[in-house]
Amino acid sequence: MATDFTLLTRQAEALLGDETDIVANAANFSSLVFHNVPDINWAGFYFRHRDELIVGPFQGRPACVRIPMGQGVCGVAAERGQTVYVPNVHEFEGHIACDAASQSEVVIPLNVGDEVIGVFDVDSPSVGRFATGDVDGLEALVDVYTRVTYR
Ligand code: SME
Repeated sequence: MATDFTLLTRQAEALLGDETDIVANAANFSSLVFHNVPDINWAGFYFRHRDELIVGPFQGRPACVRIPMGQGVCGVAAERGQTVYVPNVHEFEGHIACDAASQSEVVIPLNVGDEVIGVFDVDSPSVGRFATGDVDGLEALVDVYTRVTYR
């Protein structure tokens, strides 16, 4: 079933409101995505600290804590400053397996001004889970998080 990203984006705006706390917003945002996007097993943040990413608020099983910039799907998306969609994680060289159930993954950079301050990562237990509309929808959602939080 297709996710109603227009509705979800409005819900994200209402949920975050005028709050600007990075952790509070990241926690609620992860929960909103995890419980409203079907067929996913992990949704959450990694924040950049110098040359590595460190896990932030998320929903799902415990995850790898530190990912060097340029490594894994997260590190590649953060380094490029571009969304990376991996339909089958077993075909992505350097994929970091935190949860063996994950089969496909979308990582969206948090672009604030000229900087990538972290990423938002969504994993699915299904191969090829994310269509173009899902990737676009998730990007629009993440844009709400960054716009509201880093204003
Ligand atoms: N698979 C990611 C690591 C993070 S977890 O999926 C939560 C990667 O390759 O960067």
